Amino acid sequence: MSKISNPNEFIRRSKVKLIPMYRLKYHLMGEYGWINDPNGFIQFKDNYHLFYQHYPYDAVWGPMHWGHAVSKDLIKWTYLPIALAPNKDYDRDGCFSGSAIEKNGKLYLFYTGHIYTKKEKNDDYKQVQNMAISADGIAFEKYEKNPIIDDKQIPDKASKKDFRDPRIFKIGDTYYLLIGSNDEHGIGQILMYKSIDLKKWEFVNILLKGNEDTGINWECPDIVRFDDRDILFVSAQYMRPNGIYFRNIHSSIYFIGKLDVDRGKFDYEDYYLADYGFDFYAPQISVDKNGRNIMIAWMNMWETDLVTNRLGHNWAGAMTLPREVIKIGEEIYFKPISEIVKYRKNEYSLQDIELNGEVNLETNGICYEIDAEFEPQDAYEFGVKVFKGKCEETVLLYNCRERLFTFNRERSGIGPKGERKAEVELIDGRLRLNIFVDVSSVEVFINGGKKVMTGRVYPDSQSVNISLFSNGLCKVVNFKKWDIGLE
Ligand code: FRU
Repeated sequence: MSKISNPNEFIRRSKVKLIPMYRLKYHLMGEYGWINDPNGFIQFKDNYHLFYQHYPYDAVWGPMHWGHAVSKDLIKWTYLPIALAPNKDYDRDGCFSGSAIEKNGKLYLFYTGHIYTKKEKNDDYKQVQNMAISADGIAFEKYEKNPIIDDKQIPDKASKKDFRDPRIFKIGDTYYLLIGSNDEHGIGQILMYKSIDLKKWEFVNILLKGNEDTGINWECPDIVRFDDRDILFVSAQYMRPNGIYFRNIHSSIYFIGKLDVDRGKFDYEDYYLADYGFDFYAPQISVDKNGRNIMIAWMNMWETDLVTNRLGHNWAGAMTLPREVIKIGEEIYFKPISEIVKYRKNEYSLQDIELNGEVNLETNGICYEIDAEFEPQDAYEFGVKVFKGKCEETVLLYNCRERLFTFNRERSGIGPKGERKAEVELIDGRLRLNIFVDVSSVEVFINGGKKVMTGRVYPDSQSVNISLFSNGLCKVVNFKKWDIGLE
């Protein structure tokens, strides 16, 4: 058996040991063991391909492999064999995150080789950039001259250790790579390299450097290009909290500005959180054949209690629902991918209800979508509770006086607790919520995706009720709920 088929065999044999209680129904997870960042997201030939950071042997982070799944509609995924395993000198301690591009009908992956430089696997490591190629999009051959960028090509004023997560893109005839880095003094930054053949790479510039507020190291850069603006995403480690924002240990943010490839600079106007909830990290964006910018992220957070591992369920980690990144005027919106609509079942609907107090709905579930519009009259707060049981509830609440939306998981079950808030304005006196609930996840798209809040929750199996509540009078203009079913 070749080395790469070992983990596949291990997964095949171990799968019966998965405990399904908190497994999601319409979100991608690993087949077994641990997953983190999405990698190599691309539409290649007839399929969307999504790879992911994967340690198959346990539900904890370990030497990284690239797991692999394909889909025709971004909702229903089929697992393929593991694409990359850490089995060369230049990636021996892990095949870290990276991206994909198609060239002459072949699929090229770019990834970071992680190498511990001392015997004890601690903080002494280096990272190099590698390439792997596939004709069929299933079996990958590592390039014989890897690494394509080694640590000697790291410029001055950049960490000699943290040098990872290559993001490939092409403009004209030139290929570019963005690589996560820091300036060695605790400020995150992105490096840019260029190439004409994907094999020889030349350093261009430090594309963008943050400040004391924006994290000690930047990971997983990505870029979305619109006509008049570019959007640069980074995942910032230990970003400094500011009021109600950046409350997670690490934050995925985006900068709105303009990419200048000749200077190798990104001139930005402002930056924002990509998601205002608890569990969202390392997003990747891919332009599909219809020109949609589709984003998917890891729906967990480092250094938090990963409940399914703690409980011995033999898996940990899931991806968000794919979201379309759209520019409307000067603003960026994130919308749930439209393909989800075809999985709606059993519509439940209410119209023009005068709400004052709390009502339990005559529908329930753990796997559904809600689309609702509220018009507060004299209510000072109102909202929706999901995963409601005897002693549990996950509260999604709008406070009209403070103009704040809150996702509260203080009483959500056995997972991490707390609340996250986001500033939200009513639109023509109304608040629109599109909520996706999937066994152990809640994603709330507020006002058409102007802001999104995502969090994992681990409720009791009896906590399946849904309620609407209001303190003061609030009109529920319309409320629809569909079960989401893939079968
Ligand atoms: C981000 C990250 C990446 C790295 C990978 C390792 O979540 O830390 O920077 O490549 O995870 O699994």
